[in-house]
Amino acid sequence: MCGIVGYIGKKQAYPILIKGLKRLEYRGYDSAGVALISDNKQLNVYKTKGKVADLEAFATHKDISGTVGIAHTRWATHGEPCSLNAHPHFSSSERLALIHNGIIENYATLKEKLQAKGYVFKSSTDTEVLVQLIEYIQNSNHIDLLTAVQLALQEVIGAYAIAVLDRDNPDEIVAARKSSPLVVGIGTNEFFLASDATPIVEYTDQVVYLEDEEIALIRRDKPLRIVNLNNVECSHEVKTVALNLGQLEKGGYPHFMLKEIFEQPDCICDCMRGRINVNENHVILFSVIDHKERLLRAKRFIIVACGTSWHAGLIGKQLIESFCRIPVEVEYASEFRYRNPVIDENDVVIAISQSGETADTLAAVELAKSRGAFIFGICNVIGSSIPRITDTGAYIHVGPEIGVASTKAFTGQVTVLVMLALTLAKERGTLSEAEYLSMVRELSAIPSKMKEVLQLNDRIAQLSKIFTYAHNFIYLGRGYSYPVALEGALKLKEISYIHAEGYPAAEMKHGPIALIDAEMPVVVIATRNGLYEKVLSNIQEIKARKGRVIALVTRGDTVISRIADTCIELPETPECLEPLITTVPLQMLAYHIAVCKGMDVDQPRNLAKSVTVE
Ligand code: AGP
Ligand code: GLU
Repeated sequence: MCGIVGYIGKKQAYPILIKGLKRLEYRGYDSAGVALISDNKQLNVYKTKGKVADLEAFATHKDISGTVGIAHTRWATHGEPCSLNAHPHFSSSERLALIHNGIIENYATLKEKLQAKGYVFKSSTDTEVLVQLIEYIQNSNHIDLLTAVQLALQEVIGAYAIAVLDRDNPDEIVAARKSSPLVVGIGTNEFFLASDATPIVEYTDQVVYLEDEEIALIRRDKPLRIVNLNNVECSHEVKTVALNLGQLEKGGYPHFMLKEIFEQPDCICDCMRGRINVNENHVILFSVIDHKERLLRAKRFIIVACGTSWHAGLIGKQLIESFCRIPVEVEYASEFRYRNPVIDENDVVIAISQSGETADTLAAVELAKSRGAFIFGICNVIGSSIPRITDTGAYIHVGPEIGVASTKAFTGQVTVLVMLALTLAKERGTLSEAEYLSMVRELSAIPSKMKEVLQLNDRIAQLSKIFTYAHNFIYLGRGYSYPVALEGALKLKEISYIHAEGYPAAEMKHGPIALIDAEMPVVVIATRNGLYEKVLSNIQEIKARKGRVIALVTRGDTVISRIADTCIELPETPECLEPLITTVPLQMLAYHIAVCKGMDVDQPRNLAKSVTVE
């Protein structure tokens, strides 16, 4: 969570920092702040509760001069969102200012120790402990900032990406990371610092990704130096990032979420590009071929992920089991990492993460790796932490996803999982030639079917107006549609704050049916596939109790249209690919209900895009 930006160079830092914070605002947005060493050598800190726009208003008419500065947009872990708890935090003497992403787990012990030495704390954050500790170490040992940061971090337990400014040394920023991301951008006579590359790409495409326990010494007119906590020099590779600035803008849409929903047909084409060839009738995920031996000898696959990525994992399980006949388990990364799972070198772990930074997924990967499992990553953000520690993997290539509610990443993840299952099935000989060929054809037809579904947008916007009254929603689906029901419910919860539950349709009679009454909207994925008749009975059961049914049906279905209150007709698609189609109207439904309720769709309360804390 939280976005970090830094700048040192010849230009005025403030506009660069503010623009950078806006790019990173999706990561956290409960408060924001900036620290600048002004032209007359003052260390000025401005911070406030609220969004980056509130910070800009707050800083109006203040001294925002300076060619070096750091800035932060917060997602509170310790201490409520308020100006005092916002970052940057000053040290006692106000000589140092620090921003932090992560959690200092032993902050209480360190705080007591510092309080005993007379240090007074202004905020209730864990972060303030760190800046006070650095100052204490610096003063007691008369050492430079870099050494003080190294010593302080040796005492810290937890996760951090930090940047520190020292009023008495306006020509340097010291930055460090452990388990939270940090990227240094290298320009001409200037450096940038950020939680991801999005604030940097406007100025340079040359970046260095810091590794855990590395400290970057970013100095004016001097080369970048990277050392570890013991002051050993670390070699670092300068990478070229390719990000198109247009991808970071709303492009005429009112919200990033709507833009990202509409981008899906193109994103899925990008995701399949070079991997699927309809003329030659094949799908190849090269990373699967490159590691064929290892993947083929796996006794089982374990998928680890969180949130929407976990829902994609549930679909992946069905795909891999049915195409490849390999057992697959799907785990919440947060549970997996703490329950001493049985896992060894015969296992393959698939880690799914849009951001590639989710702390729980990262920790689950580290655990699996330490037990000898082979790790395959499915991520979106290129160069992020998870792809850097996996053995191999496949990017989903859907471009930056800015809306906090995940949309195109989900369909991208499912597309990669289909390609993975097909590539592996071909190698294992577990799919007939006819089935394989039909899957290749059907998969390549998905983007044009998605386009047809997007044409339903106006109708769904109209329909959504009816449901702003609702306090609860139920989503039902079976088989491949069950994870879609979970995903539909999560989308609605996240952005409209309406309580919603997803269930396997047949489970309804084991409890949730008690909730059904005339007030309860029930979204049922009832396309004409394997369990159609069963789902039809479930719809009858809901109607018998006066529930209000919104059914997603296959185009031309005349049976359900006579029973359901509303039918959304979708193009016919094989069952295993249907999640790529049925998810789209559910994304639009959640989006429009949230808009009708006047919610902040792209930055819903309490959430952040990238969950880099536990
Ligand atoms: C999805 O809409 C959510 N915002 C959230 O559940 C998300 O999918 C989850 O935090 C996992 O993120 P990741 O894919 O970046 O690891
Ligand atoms: N733990 C710190 C706080 O609550 C940092 C949170 C963040 O990553 O934004 O202030």
